[in-house]
Amino acid sequence: MKSFYITTAIDYANGSPHLGHAYEKVLTDVIARFRRQMGDTVHFLTGTDEHGQKVQASARKQGIEPQAYVDKVSAEFQALCARLEISNTDFIRTTEPRHKQVVRDILQKLFDQGEIYEAEYRGFYSTRQEQFLQEKDRLPDGSWPEIFGEVSEIVEKNYFFRLKKYQEWLIEHLNSHPDFIFPKYRQKQVLEFLKEPLNDLCISRPRERLEWGIALPFAENYVTYVWFDALLNYYSAVVDKGLWPADFNVIGKDILVPPHAVYWPIMLHACGLPPPKALLVHGWWLQGGAKMSKSTGEVVNPLSLVDQFGVDAFRYFLIREMNVGQDSEFTVEQFLVRYNSELANNLGNLVNRTLNMATRFAAGVLPAAEVTEDAERELQALWTKTHAELVPLCEGFQFHTAIERTMVFVTATNAYIEKRAPWKLGKSEAPADQALLRTSLATMAEALRLAVAALQHVTPSTTVKINAVLGYTPGPDWRAELAWGAKLNGAKVAPALVLFPRPTPPAATAPGKA
Ligand code: ME8
Ligand code: MG
Repeated sequence: MKSFYITTAIDYANGSPHLGHAYEKVLTDVIARFRRQMGDTVHFLTGTDEHGQKVQASARKQGIEPQAYVDKVSAEFQALCARLEISNTDFIRTTEPRHKQVVRDILQKLFDQGEIYEAEYRGFYSTRQEQFLQEKDRLPDGSWPEIFGEVSEIVEKNYFFRLKKYQEWLIEHLNSHPDFIFPKYRQKQVLEFLKEPLNDLCISRPRERLEWGIALPFAENYVTYVWFDALLNYYSAVVDKGLWPADFNVIGKDILVPPHAVYWPIMLHACGLPPPKALLVHGWWLQGGAKMSKSTGEVVNPLSLVDQFGVDAFRYFLIREMNVGQDSEFTVEQFLVRYNSELANNLGNLVNRTLNMATRFAAGVLPAAEVTEDAERELQALWTKTHAELVPLCEGFQFHTAIERTMVFVTATNAYIEKRAPWKLGKSEAPADQALLRTSLATMAEALRLAVAALQHVTPSTTVKINAVLGYTPGPDWRAELAWGAKLNGAKVAPALVLFPRPTPPAATAPGKA
């Protein structure tokens, strides 16, 4: 079995999760489940990024210790994963000893190798914001904005990582690995960025300014810059499992350049480790055209949508709506359109009809198909075409298109039912009509079985529920399950299943702001 190691970014433990965090986890989960269905042994890591200025400031605001604060926030993210049925096999917290030890070992190794050096850092510092400012932070008249309070030029000793030294190596790596970043055009953006000379990276913060971090092993009065600490989670979590390099680090486009595309491969290379095999970069969920973000407060609470519509409707929407790599505007209206037209009225309707008619006309036992006429041939031909596209689409992260094709097939199955009109055939005693009736019941049930197999990585619980009411236990080989067959002959179906109930009126207007 091939092993497959995939990660999400680790979320800053400085606020509650929003739709953007939920999306990244669901997307990564869909890939992880898909790879398992393809036979891989998947290691799936997610976690929380718990050090640094932002976290220290958030804890202070609540008047509690940083550790107590991150314990609370990390628990929220872990609860989100459970609620979203994320199949992660590990969850890392950067405050765990297993992570801190690896970060310190790597820092020491790089220091001993001369990859980290000490130098004076000169810059403008805002004590109120506790941050260094850049020239671009100045107002047009050269003064500093009010929010920074008093700004002073300070000189302080810090530790620097030799980034510049590896610039040519990184360019060469990108050129020789054209599939390092998905989507491909982002790789060109990184190469564009690398046309300018890199600066070495300041990887330390003096303790007087920042308490909450991993102490440098060679200078305990400094803590590690949070990105240097955080990036190493992907490695520290598997250091004793022999799983490095990762197949994919899944991240949002805001953290590609420079952290994941520049710092991360160079850090690894300087340690004598290979870079991740690839980075998968998704776009943003927007609201009113702007990135949904903790700092602006304009966020959708994923849990309230899950509570109202169920986890699979939520997962389905995220994956159906977003073209991986691009941005998507989130609106409740669009959520409801997909919920009603695709899930309730299309898939839900097929489930209802199949169960209802098998119960009414075949005493709940699915018969075998007996005739193959144009109607059956056309539906099977559509499945053959859909089936052939599915795996390549999913391998290329075109999950939205794979779902769309599957839903076209569901629509065609409902149209097939209209055409065959089993409710009319059921009134006829003629043997030819009875044969067609049995054929139509078998055909709609088989089509439903195939559609839910195709959606399994997106809507895992729904697939399980539908298979259960069809009296069907799928075999272990997912790809074999995708072949049109007669797997449901003789299956005993349940009379009904409520899957996607009509939302109660308040749900249509209350998106649930966090
Ligand atoms: O960046 N739409 O954490 P984070 C889609 N701790 N994705 C979004 C999003 C949105 N509106 N908002 C955020 C960090 N994300 C660091 C990562 S990794 C070693 C350290 C995504 O909590 C974002 O792009 O700000 C990132 O991939 C993830 O959520 C965590 O963001
Ligand atoms: Mg962010």
